[in-house]
Amino acid sequence: MTADFKSMSLAAVDQTVVGWLEQLATQAREAVTHKLTVSTKGHDARNLVTNVDRSNEEWLDQQIRTLDPGAKVVSEEGFGDHPADMSGDVWFVDPIDGTMNFVHEHTDFAIMVAWYRDGEPKLGWIIDVMAHHIFHGGPEMGVFENDQQLPKQPDVNLDQAVFALSGRHLMQADSSYQEVGRSVLAFRVLGSAGITFARILAGQLNGYYAELQPWDFAAGQVMAKTLGLEVTNVDGKPLDMLSSNAVIVTTSSAHREVITLLKS
Ligand code: IPD
Ligand code: CA
Ligand code: CA
Repeated sequence: MTADFKSMSLAAVDQTVVGWLEQLATQAREAVTHKLTVSTKGHDARNLVTNVDRSNEEWLDQQIRTLDPGAKVVSEEGFGDHPADMSGDVWFVDPIDGTMNFVHEHTDFAIMVAWYRDGEPKLGWIIDVMAHHIFHGGPEMGVFENDQQLPKQPDVNLDQAVFALSGRHLMQADSSYQEVGRSVLAFRVLGSAGITFARILAGQLNGYYAELQPWDFAAGQVMAKTLGLEVTNVDGKPLDMLSSNAVIVTTSSAHREVITLLKS
């Protein structure tokens, strides 16, 4: 970490990353109807990657390393590092989240960045590209949707909660996902962790249950916790920031109910 980054205010770091994501979102809106080169990963026809995923990640990782030279970057498409632990500054990058939506629906996809220091959440950013909405903030500055500060989330019981669930697990008839689906007021499958977190932060959804990688949940976790929501694994324990987790995000009451349900 340079003296420069150390002496930057939190607001200045926030606005720097907001600027990066607004720039990439403008390019992604241009690219969405043309110029996409699409390929699959891991011989899985449902796991897409485009030229925009790769170029966004290469550029964002580079920007982060220039801003904060001591930082480690955890990112999806291979341009990042593989830190052994969460000491120091660790940044997370999902260069396009909801790539299937990006390629096929041309909406409901996001770009996400998060910054943690010694394992503590500092700031998170999620840009809903087509809606021109950026969610950003953290425990020290609060959470904003564009320039508007978001309120703490009201507590909602599970039977009054609208949850996003993992479509893949529902399709595989995973009983824990089905059980949660039967217990909530309604469930949705959105195809983007970033868009799901954005809707939770905006109060449009009350919960989320999905198997996610660190770059899928790192930004959302910073902001959801700041707004008073629980973000844990299925045992109610903190998420492992360096591997995949079964993630539950919801209000305190609904969280207690889900954890009890999943234990039974
Ligand atoms: C995916 C989306 C999806 C979630 C998957 C993620 P990607 O991210 O967030 O909603 O269910 O687990 O991999 O691959 O489009 O960045
Ligand atoms: Ca993702
Ligand atoms: Ca991605």
